[in-house]
Amino acid sequence: MYQCVSFYKVYKDNNFSRSTPHYFAIQAESAVDFLHSVVIHPWAKGGFLRSYAYLCHQIYNIALRKMADNYLGRKMEEYFSRPNTRKTHHSPSLGKLLLKNRSHRAYDEEFLVREDQLRRIIEVNCRVASARNQQVLRFRPVLKDEADRLTPLIRMGGALPHLHLPAEGSRPNAYIIITSTIEENRYVDIDLGIAAQSMLLQAVEIGLNGICIAAFDREKVKQEFHLESDPLLILAIGKGLDDIELKTISKEEDHTYYRQEGRHIVPKLGIDDLIIK
Ligand SMILES: Cc1cc2nc3c(=O)[nH]c(=O)nc-3n(C[C@H](O)[C@H](O)[C@H](O)COP(=O)(O)O)c2cc1C
Repeated sequence: MYQCVSFYKVYKDNNFSRSTPHYFAIQAESAVDFLHSVVIHPWAKGGFLRSYAYLCHQIYNIALRKMADNYLGRKMEEYFSRPNTRKTHHSPSLGKLLLKNRSHRAYDEEFLVREDQLRRIIEVNCRVASARNQQVLRFRPVLKDEADRLTPLIRMGGALPHLHLPAEGSRPNAYIIITSTIEENRYVDIDLGIAAQSMLLQAVEIGLNGICIAAFDREKVKQEFHLESDPLLILAIGKGLDDIELKTISKEEDHTYYRQEGRHIVPKLGIDDLIIK
């Protein structure tokens, strides 16, 4: 009997929380077990010592089960009451995006840019600044099925004419043509710069690359894509293949980009040359 009381104390003292949903299930199960050991078993099997031993054994089992359950219950409660310390996916910092946002002139032709990716890139324009908030820019996505009509009308790498960029085998297969609903003016051009840079940063954030292209045949692009107004700028979008490095230069040095052992080098002014003193 002493054994029974001590086992009972063990499971009584283990602070089982009544708020956990499985508490009720355990209670019901315990009641059935207890009934079986006290009422049914002695009747069925007979013999006082055997019944007493069986009763002790049952209470011991219940106590163990409850302790185990209580342990899990407590762990669950602890877990859910903890502040959420799980690491969430963080977007790359602006610094990293700016660094990765290099003008690529060679693209992986195997990688096909999808419509939803261009849509996501264009969508940044729903959130950017616009002079007098006129939002006059419009965007024509161009995917693989139409890209071959646009590629011959653009020119890349004006400073590297001998490379004839974009080279065969590494041409872009997606573009965004930017037009305006009004005649081009100072404010349209400022909006254009904001839109282009924002879209390129978005492209980089989703693992793509791009380049602004101003050197293209405006008239032919307008005709070929049945545009209502003149195209102002084209973005090529894709998986960039160029190996590009920024090199800090002084304002006296040549600003022209160049190739060195297969690497594309882009000279950039340092902060002291940018600030007006
Ligand atoms: C408005 C604008 C128009 C550009 N047009 C062309 C172009 O027609 N062809 C080209 O190869 N690159 C073009 N570029 C890309 C520049 O050459 C490039 O930004 C520059 O070499 C610096 O390289 P980075 O963009 O990697 O910093 C253009 C860039 C801008 C901002």
